[in-house]
Amino acid sequence: MKLTQAQLDAFDRDGYLFFPSLFTPEEVARLNAEVPGIYAQKRPENVRERGSDAVRTNFAAHKYNDMFARLGRHPRMVEPVEQLFGEKLYMHQFKINGKMAFDGDVWQWHQDYGTWMNDDHMPAARAMNVAIFLDDTNEFNGPLMFIPGSHKAGVLDAGHDTSTTSYPLWTINKDTVSQMVEKAGGLKGGIVAPKGPPGSMILFHGCLVHASTSNLSPWNRVNVYLSLNALSNHIRRFKRPGYIAHRQFDAIECLPDDCLLKDYPVQTPWKDGTPAEELTGLLKEAA
Ligand code: SIN
Ligand code: MN
Repeated sequence: MKLTQAQLDAFDRDGYLFFPSLFTPEEVARLNAEVPGIYAQKRPENVRERGSDAVRTNFAAHKYNDMFARLGRHPRMVEPVEQLFGEKLYMHQFKINGKMAFDGDVWQWHQDYGTWMNDDHMPAARAMNVAIFLDDTNEFNGPLMFIPGSHKAGVLDAGHDTSTTSYPLWTINKDTVSQMVEKAGGLKGGIVAPKGPPGSMILFHGCLVHASTSNLSPWNRVNVYLSLNALSNHIRRFKRPGYIAHRQFDAIECLPDDCLLKDYPVQTPWKDGTPAEELTGLLKEAA
């Protein structure tokens, strides 16, 4: 899938692109059918919400589930990022975020590149998130919120929040968020939340400031995120477990466009369990 010049310009200006209904209901149904089985597994890749069994985020399903292994090589998700970076990519991170009905908790304001830089020593913001909605995303079930154009600010100061939710995050302080929202238009477009049917896709810059509120609705809001990194920009430090920040820098080779509907052989090397060396960081935390 090739981005047009108008899309490239919009991405440069806003820091994200939204593609409503890019995947068909049948393609999404096949992915969705796999999620309960993945979330039910007792494996470290399932991070649960605080005080609940609901999955907040699941890591690396492309390493142990056939359908998600195919999604990780889908040309509609991978090719636009190859085009933007002008080089081949590898999978830095793969996650299926639950944001489950009633239980899905907030994601505080942050930039993903802040984490990739601070934790993984990724040299530059040449990694991108590509999200696909597996559920209808609406104003009630905690859609992703963006501050358009905030990627232009580069890396912002962030503090390591290890207490608000069950998952530690490098978060941006309230004053900075307020100023950036004002700069982006305040009440008139300073925050946007792309909403749409299952199968919609969002591509967003590693420095784009984003967040999502909790999900008090009776509807799940499952999103899959591929974090695709340019090969030359591979991470330099393995502080986080390998299932969170991958250490294999193999170029992604796309499958054909119908890969969610037809069987294509894919590798799922962690099907019988996560290799021991991928379960921990290889560095001690600083005292
Ligand atoms: C994230 O920013 O990594 C997750 C946000 C969300 O799924 O709402
Ligand atoms: Mn994020």
